[in-house]
Amino acid sequence: MAKIRDLSINICGVKFPNPFLLSSSPVSNTAEMVARAFDKGWGGVAYKTIAHDRTRIIHPSPRMAPFNYENKSLVALQNVEQTSDRPMKDNWADIRWLKKHYPKQVLIVSIMGFSLDEWIDLARMGEDNGADMLELNFSCPHMTVEGAGMKVGQAMELIEKFTSAVKKTVNIPVIAKLTSNVTDITIPALYAQKGGADAITAINTVRALTEIGLDDFVPKPNIHGKGAMSGMSGPAIKPIGLKCVTELAQCDGLKIPIIGCGGAETWVDIAEYLMCGAAAIQVTTGIIHYGQRIVEDMAEGLSDWMDAKKFNNLQEIVGKSLVKTVGTDAFDLSRQGIAQFDLDKCIGCGQCYIVCQDAGGQGLGWDSEKRRPVPDDKQCLSCMICGMVCPVDAMVSYKYKPGKQEILPPVMG
Ligand SMILES: Cc1cc2nc3c(=O)[nH]c(=O)nc-3n(C[C@H](O)[C@H](O)[C@H](O)COP(=O)(O)O)c2cc1C
Repeated sequence: MAKIRDLSINICGVKFPNPFLLSSSPVSNTAEMVARAFDKGWGGVAYKTIAHDRTRIIHPSPRMAPFNYENKSLVALQNVEQTSDRPMKDNWADIRWLKKHYPKQVLIVSIMGFSLDEWIDLARMGEDNGADMLELNFSCPHMTVEGAGMKVGQAMELIEKFTSAVKKTVNIPVIAKLTSNVTDITIPALYAQKGGADAITAINTVRALTEIGLDDFVPKPNIHGKGAMSGMSGPAIKPIGLKCVTELAQCDGLKIPIIGCGGAETWVDIAEYLMCGAAAIQVTTGIIHYGQRIVEDMAEGLSDWMDAKKFNNLQEIVGKSLVKTVGTDAFDLSRQGIAQFDLDKCIGCGQCYIVCQDAGGQGLGWDSEKRRPVPDDKQCLSCMICGMVCPVDAMVSYKYKPGKQEILPPVMG
């Protein structure tokens, strides 16, 4: 196995051995499974959200449904799971055991109160039982308890109130886990910061409806003939996660660190979240799909990439893409390009011609004898959809229009 370099990072004064964390979900439900994940190399856990025993949680059956698209399975996962259904005493015992046996891994205890008193109570119990940090779940999009989860994440005063109450109760760092189901995630983040939050986790599952049965008309998961709007996770939500983390990292008033979450499966996803400004990344669906072992590739891939790019430490990557993420008004419009083809690679399928005619600039003709596209530089919009549909990558490059850095007049009116 390749040598893994030091991937440690400091967040809110807590040393994380690496940025790979289990997120709060079925993958972090018991000490036994978390211990196995730590043995494989995960640097920390946001333990499955603990609510107060006063409300008995019963999960629907089934609680999840996969969304598969063409050849890729689990592009997304739809779930209706609530907070932990285990008795609090069992969870606290597991948390104490984990802290005792894995002192170097970071133990984040996720909590959700259904009243102010419960938030305070749970926070105290979390700290007393060994949590290094608390994560306040303001973001589950399908809680059955009225006014809980995402409903708090959409009510700014409540975010501030609960965060502030927890902060007054404990001495450990407090993270607010926010929902992307808002118009602008920086607003709840600023309220959390005002309440004293030390960090933000973004994002939880996205409220969605991935699939509806064509035979029974029931949204999935189909729970005995009924479905519900609920939480979507997995690769399909990574773009939303990256967007939210970037918005948070670019928000001038927000001074606290960000933990990314949503759709991370590989070291590339981890690198992308780091570049957007996340200091660590949490994972659930990737583990549900491939198992805890994905952390080995994450560590090896990230380590190799850091060597290749000559990064000295993880902190140097955090926020690396931010200066290059601009408003669309800041683009250089004087440079317009033309698609370039390697016709020796072309297999004559005609896909490029069809999409250029139907959805592009009609910048490709078609030689039906040779079965090859005939580029027309004047008409090419450089939209590149020809390259997107080419099965053999025959659209090989993108050339700027030679000698003239000017905007062509629109092809049609
Ligand atoms: C079945 C399931 C249960 C979850 N339960 C919780 C939870 O109890 N608390 C929480 O904060 N997030 C919960 N989540 C959300 C995840 O922690 C994570 O934010 C989300 O799944 C996005 O990450 P992913 O795409 O890596 O799965 C749950 C997700 C799934 C799929």
